Parts: sequence; structure tokens; C-alpha cells
Amino acid sequence: MNGFWIHGATLMTSAGPRDADLRVDGERIAEIRDREPGIPAPEGAIPAHGLWLMPGGVDVHTHFGMPLRPGLSSRGWGDSSTAALLGGTTTVVDFANPDPAESLADAHARWRAAAAGECLCDHAFHVTVPRIDDAVLDEIPRLAAEGLPTFKGFLAYKGRLMLSLDELRALMVVVRDAGARLLLHAEDGELNARHENSLREAGRLAPRYHPDAHSVASEAESAVAALGLVRETGCPLTIVHTSTADAMDAVANARESGLDVSAEVCTQHLFRDDGWYRRGDDAALTAIMSPPLRPAEHPAALRRGLADGRLSWLATDHCEFPLAVKRSAAVDGFPSVPNGAAGVGERLIVSHTLAVTTGLITPARWVDVCCEAPARAMGLGHRKGRLEPGLDADLVLFDPRARSTLPINADASLWTCDDWRGAVRDVWLRGRPVVHDGALSPGVGPGLHLTRSL
Ligand code: URP
Ligand code: ZN
Ligand code: ZN
Repeated sequence: MNGFWIHGATLMTSAGPRDADLRVDGERIAEIRDREPGIPAPEGAIPAHGLWLMPGGVDVHTHFGMPLRPGLSSRGWGDSSTAALLGGTTTVVDFANPDPAESLADAHARWRAAAAGECLCDHAFHVTVPRIDDAVLDEIPRLAAEGLPTFKGFLAYKGRLMLSLDELRALMVVVRDAGARLLLHAEDGELNARHENSLREAGRLAPRYHPDAHSVASEAESAVAALGLVRETGCPLTIVHTSTADAMDAVANARESGLDVSAEVCTQHLFRDDGWYRRGDDAALTAIMSPPLRPAEHPAALRRGLADGRLSWLATDHCEFPLAVKRSAAVDGFPSVPNGAAGVGERLIVSHTLAVTTGLITPARWVDVCCEAPARAMGLGHRKGRLEPGLDADLVLFDPRARSTLPINADASLWTCDDWRGAVRDVWLRGRPVVHDGALSPGVGPGLHLTRSL
């Protein structure tokens, strides 16, 4: 199909709803025309009365096919990107994680090759900075200029990825000078390791003890320390997968004082709480992720922050390890269980149900946090995240009155239920139909690798 109209839908944009028809030509949105009474539908238009037409979802925090250790990788590109498309997400930004001695560029090339031909949605990469030395720091300006302008640093994961505050400061200076942005996993790896050792000594190694090794203070204090370094260096910073009210408020206060900082939130930290660790081993295993699910007052505060703008966008940190894999790793105790949960397929429907239909946010804010804001913040706003002529025709026809069954293409899930509000009916990726009537279209080809510029 080269060119076509979609007629009768309510266009759902971050500026509000609009009664308009939209024409696609090739890979792009060609035209948006307000509907006038008495003007007939364009010939051959796809009828969409009663549906919302919105931009394809943009999830800027995923880990599709992440090798963790030999023989153990998160669920691969094909399955994860299928879940994304079925759930209305057409673009993801994943993380390329270098091996201990590997260059950032080689890691990116490796990740890009793994996704090529396998990943069905459009995709780009952030690069993890696993160590600080001259060679790594030298690569950052080059990579940023080549379309990889976001780097992730960790204060968590002692002995693997953890940077000291001095190393983080050095990284911030280089990232700032490269015109790039730093993404931070804000948990204090030293403190988490101490808690983990105490739990080990006490024989508390069942899955339910995982959150006890990842305290609220651990996230809050490392966020505050990092924001102090931003004040010193002026490096743009995003705290990713923000899980506590404390970290969110620290970022909001710093932003109010003029710093270029933001906080990302993920679906699970908004709508699930640490009660999951007390529902038996399988539920606890499903919820093993870092940062963990928090006591209920934190998700409640985060939901207010999503509504009032303290949180900037909604991602998932999708990183699916099948339950069987987590169960077998758990025989050595919770610290051996791979961290991460599925969510890319569920993000739109879960947030529509629990934030839009409840009146927490408007449909316009929902489109903003799921599509437009993450695309803009991560350097994809020139082609993704909005309904506007000239942009990629990544489109979702969403039925707000239908019901959905979750999870989508995932086994263990935090979202199992058959009465979710809203359904993803049809999806187009750069003008190509990829989902029809809630099912993957036959012969969906690979997505495009995207470069970005902030
Ligand atoms: O548990 C998680 N979040 N796994 C993925 C890696 C990360 O830190 O984002
Ligand atoms: Zn992280
Ligand atoms: Zn992550």
C-alpha cells in the first residue's frame, strides 16, 4: 500500500484530541485534514470511527536480547519486538553493553548486528560505559557525533559496572563537552553489596529478600550525589527507572534550580508495589529487577509526579528472562537471579487503564509521556513520536472502549489479567501495516536502525 487515508478517528496528540483525517504517502505522514460536516470520506479511506489515532509508542529503555553471562540472555530481538508492535510501540532505544575489555564502538556494532534482520520495530541504542579510562573517554565525542548521543553510567552493581563518584564526575565532563546526555542507574552499589552480604549471612536468600538489598535510601542518596556532580559539571542527566519519591523530588528540585536534569519512570514502578515479593516465589521472581518494586507510598507519589510533570516520560526497562530461567538461577539465592521483567507490550494498555481511565492524566498527557516526550528527549523528535506531516507514518489505531488480555507475548508477567481497558487494533510502521485487528501482519520485515541527535 503506497498511499492511503485513515478516516473518522480522533487524532490523539499531546496538544489534545482533534477530529481529523490523516493521509499517509510512502513512509511518511503526508497530510492531516480537519473533518468538516458534510464532506465525504476520501475514496478508499480506512474507516476508523470511534477509535483514537495516535503516534506509534516510543520506549527509550529496553534490553532486547541482552547477554548477561555465558548461556544466559534476555529474550531475543524477534520475540521482544513482536511484543512491542502488538502493544503499539514502534520504536525502542535499547542499550549496548560492552564486555569488560571491549570498546564502546565495538559493543555498539555487536548490538546493532544482533538486532539487524531480527528486530521488527525501529530501534536505536544508548551505550553503557562500564569503566573509565582514556580510551573509553576518547570514544564518547566520536560516538555522539555519529548519532549515539546518550550514555549510561551505573552507581549500582559493585564489581561489574559500578563507577565511583570520581569516575562519574570525569564521565560527566566528557559527556557534557560532547553535547551528549548521561543516563544514570542511581543505586548505591556499595550499600547494596553490604545489604546483600548481611542477607547472605542471615541465610535470607529466597526471592522475596531481593528488595531488602536495594533500599529506598540507596536510590535516593546516589541520586542526590549525582545531582551534586551535575551542579559542578553542568552535564545533562536523566535518572532512568526512577522508583522512589525521594529521587523524583531531588530531580524536580534540581530542575527547578535550572539544571538540565530529568527523571524517567517505568510502568512497573508506577503501578506495582513491593507486595509482589510476598505473593510466593514465582511472583517474587517475576519482580526481581533493579531498582525493585517499592512500598506503596512510592508508586502513589510517582503517579502524582507523572501527572504534574516531575516525571518526564514513561518507559519499561523491558528485560525479559523467562520464569523457568529465573527459577533455576534461584537455587543459588536471589543474588544469582537475572534482573529484569517484561513490559514493552503492556505499557500503552496498562497506562491507559491505570492512568487515563482513572482520570490521573489526560489522553494528551498519555500520548506525550508514551510517544512525544521520550522521542524528543532522546533525539528522535525529527521523525518519531508525533502526528505531523513529514514525520514517519508510525501510527496506532487504539480502541479506548475495548478490553485486552495481558501479557502480550511474555510468560511471567506483572500484568496478567483479562480485563484491561483499551486495545491496540492496527499499527503501521513507516506506512507499512504491521498489526491488523490485534494480530501481527504476515511477513513483517525488519525495523530500521536509527541514528539520533540531541
Ligand atoms: O533489572 C533491571 N533493570 N535489568 C536491566 C538492567 C538495568 O539496570 O536497567
Ligand atoms: Zn539500570
Ligand atoms: Zn535497564
